[in-house]
Amino acid sequence: MSDSAELKIDGKTYNLPIIEGTENEKAFDIGGLRGETGVITIDPGYKNTGSTKSAITFLDGEKGILRYRGYSIEELAEKSSFLEVAYLLIYGELPTKEEFTQFEYDVRYHTLVHEDIKKILEGFPSNAHPMGVLSSLVTSLTAFYPESLDPNRSSEAVNLSIIRILAKMPTFAAWAYKNEIGHPVNYPDNNLDYCSNFLKMMFALPAAGYEIDPVVSGALDKLLILHADHEQNCSTSTVRIVGSSQASLYASLSAGINALWGPLHGGANSAVINMLENIRKDGGDTRKWMDKAKDKNDPFRLMGFGHRVYKNFDPRARIIKKAADDVLEKLGINDPVLDIAKGLEHVALNDDYFVERKLYPNVDFYSGIIYRALGIPVDMFTVMFALGRLPGWIAQWKEMRGNNEPIGRPRQVYVGENLRPYVDLNKR
Ligand code: SDX
Repeated sequence: MSDSAELKIDGKTYNLPIIEGTENEKAFDIGGLRGETGVITIDPGYKNTGSTKSAITFLDGEKGILRYRGYSIEELAEKSSFLEVAYLLIYGELPTKEEFTQFEYDVRYHTLVHEDIKKILEGFPSNAHPMGVLSSLVTSLTAFYPESLDPNRSSEAVNLSIIRILAKMPTFAAWAYKNEIGHPVNYPDNNLDYCSNFLKMMFALPAAGYEIDPVVSGALDKLLILHADHEQNCSTSTVRIVGSSQASLYASLSAGINALWGPLHGGANSAVINMLENIRKDGGDTRKWMDKAKDKNDPFRLMGFGHRVYKNFDPRARIIKKAADDVLEKLGINDPVLDIAKGLEHVALNDDYFVERKLYPNVDFYSGIIYRALGIPVDMFTVMFALGRLPGWIAQWKEMRGNNEPIGRPRQVYVGENLRPYVDLNKR
């Protein structure tokens, strides 16, 4: 391919330089387009538009490939741990034994949150959605750590802000859940690993304590790895654009949490389980619901299916589907909803509408079945997604800050009224 693309406008030819990434992805650079031609591009949803050059995550939607910093998601899910993957995403390399020991110590050391956070938490009614609580508590860190407001502070200060949020997010997530069910919160136990500590904060009861099941903590660790980053998705792009105004890390992360909340994005995992439950209650007729998903006059969509990038199987869905079978078998759980999910998948993968549109199960299709088996309530599923995606958001924010990228400010094509004179109220 040549190193530039030709663009002809009104008989004049412009050359747009073509850049090529390390995996042979190509883009033509329109950085000077408006200045040279007076014309801009338009691409609602940015389906064809790259926002940055990134070295963090590589996706190949056609081949179903996902890699973090060059390591395959299959290998990381099998051999690594969530905290090690967090280190890899944020700092770019797998840690040495010494580096990981220090990192794990630092994270454990910062799990406790200021006691006044409980006053904020107690201000929420018990029906508050945990995603709203989570984004509020993350923003509240700007008050408890005002030095975090300046993203231009020393790398040590920025790194301390990163460690603090990595450490405190599980505490916030568990406390949001306890607030919702009206139970007293549990304080972090720094003798436990990341996932075990989270599970104990979630489920320990004053009278009964909580026994860590390695099957449960291991399954959770794998799920968090699978959610850790996914290049320029909606919530990550939100984190980057908010951070590009030099708003703080915590303000940027809180914005990302709110973007993830939507049912077309991270909220899909809750929507999948609600959908499967509705199908089960309706008698389990998967063909009927498939027809609804295909009917343009019916707003129903098959949640957990389709993806902006993957036009093949989402590699994470393959891993989660196998993990769901393993976890349910080890825990001795027979979940009829899993059978319905598999039935839907089979029908969809053989249906022209879905095949033509290359709609496959995505990361959210099976994850809710595991969360449910682990005892996590449905409206906490997207909080779990946020817990997993946190290191990715941090890594992407850090990369954007490190690249000294300009503030994000897209252009538009105006289609409103032309100039018209003001008319006094009594003459309208
Ligand atoms: C995540 O971007 C990421 O990387 C996200 C994520 C991450 O890790 O950050 O992977 C996490 O958000 C996964 C996606 C979770 N969302 C869902 O499962 C919700 C259901 N899926 C969709 O709404 C949809 O597939 C999207 C939002 C995921 C993608 O939408 P696109 O790329 O904008 O595609 P589209 O809406 O233009 O759909 C193309 C066609 C349309 O039909 P036609 O107009 O061509 O006739 O496919 C149809 C759509 O109607 N379609 C579906 C469908 N998804 C797309 N039809 C029925 N059911 C669906 N689920």
